[in-house]
Amino acid sequence: MSRITIAIDGFSSTGKSTIAKELAAKLHYVYVDSGAMYRAVTLYAMQHEFINEGYFFKDKLINNLNDINLSFHFNESLGFAEIFLNNVNVEHKIRTLEVSNFVSKIAEVSEVRRRLVEEQQEMGKNKGVVMDGRDIGTVVFPNAELKFFVNASADKRAKRRFDELIKKGDKVTYKEILKNVKYRDRVDSTRLDSPLVKADDAIEIDNSDLTLTEQFDLIYGIVKSKLDLRDI
Ligand code: CDP
Repeated sequence: MSRITIAIDGFSSTGKSTIAKELAAKLHYVYVDSGAMYRAVTLYAMQHEFINEGYFFKDKLINNLNDINLSFHFNESLGFAEIFLNNVNVEHKIRTLEVSNFVSKIAEVSEVRRRLVEEQQEMGKNKGVVMDGRDIGTVVFPNAELKFFVNASADKRAKRRFDELIKKGDKVTYKEILKNVKYRDRVDSTRLDSPLVKADDAIEIDNSDLTLTEQFDLIYGIVKSKLDLRDI
């Protein structure tokens, strides 16, 4: 069967990564979480005190971009690849609300984007990849054979993210999560470089009222018919 590129874009906490992981596992494709890369660069900037409440030394981050090494290593027991920052597994550390609060500022920086987009294109150059993010169908793989644009109401998204973080033991409130979700929606959609927009040829999915199984069945059905059509 021929292998394709699947781009999944959308607003924060829409469950893109859940869809992407499931699809990749089912199709035996590589899954790449592009958001994890922006989050890892954010963690690096925080660790080096380039960013914090009230300041962002953008030039320092840009000057140090060559010191940042990102890699993904497949974890058999989890069934997906975890992200490493300079050879340290940071998969858990990048998911905190603190990182979420700074990541959209980091993702606005064109030098950061250029570098990460290059790495993403390299990872997907042989096709057979499912990548999720904000600009995958518009900038990273504008020729992807299949593009999805996922959305859900801000309340639903905040509730999902809140439940996820509470389950992990993080001390967060629903109110601050909702604030972060809305803030990132705004910054991600209005930034000058590669804003979050639906690609003209993306299939829009609103999963506000879909269960995980319903969502997977819907998307997998579309993927299957696309693959079947190509192989006829
Ligand atoms: O998981 P969640 O939906 O909260 O976000 P994510 O996919 O982990 O992405 C975190 C942040 O990285 C986003 O809010 C964007 O600011 C940025 N991002 C981006 O600019 N471009 C991408 N391709 C992926 C993420």
